[in-house]
Amino acid sequence: MKTVIAINGSARKSWNTATLLEYALKGAEAVGAKTELVHLYDLDYKGCTSCFSCKLKDGKSYGKCATKDDLTPVLERIAGADAFILGSPVYIGMATGEMRSFLERLVFPYLVYDREHSTLFPKKIPTAFIHTMGADESSAKAMGFDGPIRLTELVLGRIFGSSETLVATDTLQFDDYAKYVSSGHNPAEKARRHREVFPEDCRMAYDLGMRMAQAGR
Ligand SMILES: Cc1cc2nc3c(=O)[nH]c(=O)nc-3n(C[C@H](O)[C@H](O)[C@H](O)COP(=O)(O)O)c2cc1C
Repeated sequence: MKTVIAINGSARKSWNTATLLEYALKGAEAVGAKTELVHLYDLDYKGCTSCFSCKLKDGKSYGKCATKDDLTPVLERIAGADAFILGSPVYIGMATGEMRSFLERLVFPYLVYDREHSTLFPKKIPTAFIHTMGADESSAKAMGFDGPIRLTELVLGRIFGSSETLVATDTLQFDDYAKYVSSGHNPAEKARRHREVFPEDCRMAYDLGMRMAQAGR
């Protein structure tokens, strides 16, 4: 049985990012995978501290993160998984700080400082990243949000073997727009989008989860 792990980089456990990750895991389960959803905001951890134990010649932590905290068992489970799916809202043009700290700890130990930027990850597994953002597609492009998204896809692909990206734009941010100062948003349009387009994003997440669990069969 395949194991697929999803990592939620949103503080919210039942909103856009978490919902899409849940759909992806449902897709993986539909083809027989065992799944797990980890909420990063439940964990106490830090990003990379530049200790470089993971790069120390003949070091006992070579190729592994030496920092011990709540991320340690999660990183171990990812190393044993058959696929993983990350999810994060875009905060100020990038993934959340928690997701970025997680990525530092996940990716850097496997990255070899050689000319080829080779990887110490011992197998090739499918990975994916689901990004959610309040901006619509054209504003996101105009503001350059696609840059960090493509870079993350490139890095995950190089280290783990392959990576897919799913982007959900123009998400619903509040339960009731009337309660918040947000004159730049059109609440009726946001509600329509959530009703008509978000379900399609969920369907794509479901299909993505299926693909992740079926890869390499
Ligand atoms: C601190 C903060 C910063 C944000 N920055 C951006 C941004 O730069 N671009 C954008 O399109 N949306 C931005 N958003 C909106 C979120 O990306 C969007 O609502 C996302 O879907 C929220 O995910 P969630 O529902 O899983 O929490 C921001 C939201 C917050 C709270």
